[in-house]
Amino acid sequence: MKDLTGKTALITGASSGLGEAYALRLASLGVRVILVARRADRLRELADRITSEHGIYAASVLPMDLSARDAGSTLAKILKGRGTQIDILINNAGFGQTVNFVEESNKFIVDELTVNIHTLVELTHAFLPGMVERKDGIVINIASTAAFQSLPYMAVYGASKAFVLSFTEALWGETKNTGVKVLAVCPGPTATEFFDANGTTPALGRFIRTSENVIDSTFKALEKEKSPAAVIDGSLNKLTALSSRFVTRKASINLSGKIMKPKEKN
Ligand SMILES: NC(=O)c1ccc[n+]([C@@H]2O[C@H](COP(=O)([O-])OP(=O)(O)OC[C@H]3O[C@@H](n4cnc5c(N)ncnc54)[C@H](OP(=O)(O)O)[C@@H]3O)[C@@H](O)[C@H]2O)c1
Repeated sequence: MKDLTGKTALITGASSGLGEAYALRLASLGVRVILVARRADRLRELADRITSEHGIYAASVLPMDLSARDAGSTLAKILKGRGTQIDILINNAGFGQTVNFVEESNKFIVDELTVNIHTLVELTHAFLPGMVERKDGIVINIASTAAFQSLPYMAVYGASKAFVLSFTEALWGETKNTGVKVLAVCPGPTATEFFDANGTTPALGRFIRTSENVIDSTFKALEKEKSPAAVIDGSLNKLTALSSRFVTRKASINLSGKIMKPKEKN
């Protein structure tokens, strides 16, 4: 892959988990990182850690709620107003919950769709044109192995990630000869705060992946001369994600439903 020293990356959801790990990896490669999420204290802690290791210009923070209406275009306007060029965009912020859809609150659903889809599309629309014009840039959208089959009890989340995968693969098709790399990253269960917010813990024991595993898979995909449209992190995740191709959709939904069904509360 090309040398990224001196480039600027915008990373959403940088206050924990994958976003934090992307920030640390990119900073170690000489990339200046702009960190976005709601928890300002966590962002500042991370920025302090990065600047103490890589210098005062290595990280800056922009605390923001990306579930707010037009959050993506507002964020883009702020950055463009400051004259900041974004060379690497990592649309990572996202969340979901395991719940029966009929019991899910309307606010939760709207916020989830806004963060997982609307803001991601707006930010991509704001920064991809400049990258195409400069014939240089990287857009990484975090999808999930949840994108590969319908997920009863995570219906909105699964569908939002299917959108991210489809959208990103389509943009890869539009930009593959422009010099810009567009990549959908599909992690499976990974040890982050996702499951704290989600309210469930995956019963995968030693098979659970780490954020660093996901970052390694991302860079391995980007380093390829012709980088793929999407990458699934980990062989077990590849197997489970792609296995849905070999059964009927009905069988796949029924199996996912059995796995995802929340345990009855006593
Ligand atoms: N962990 C997994 O097993 C897994 C598997 C597949 C895909 N993913 C995807 O990976 C991405 C990162 O998640 P993670 O696993 O790293 O979980 P995480 O540790 O919970 O991180 C989620 C990040 O999103 C940010 N975020 C959530 N709502 C936001 C809002 N309204 N405005 C701004 N930022 C918001 C959070 O920051 P604040 O709370 O500070 O705002 C946090 O930084 C997500 O898109 C998730 O769907 C995760």
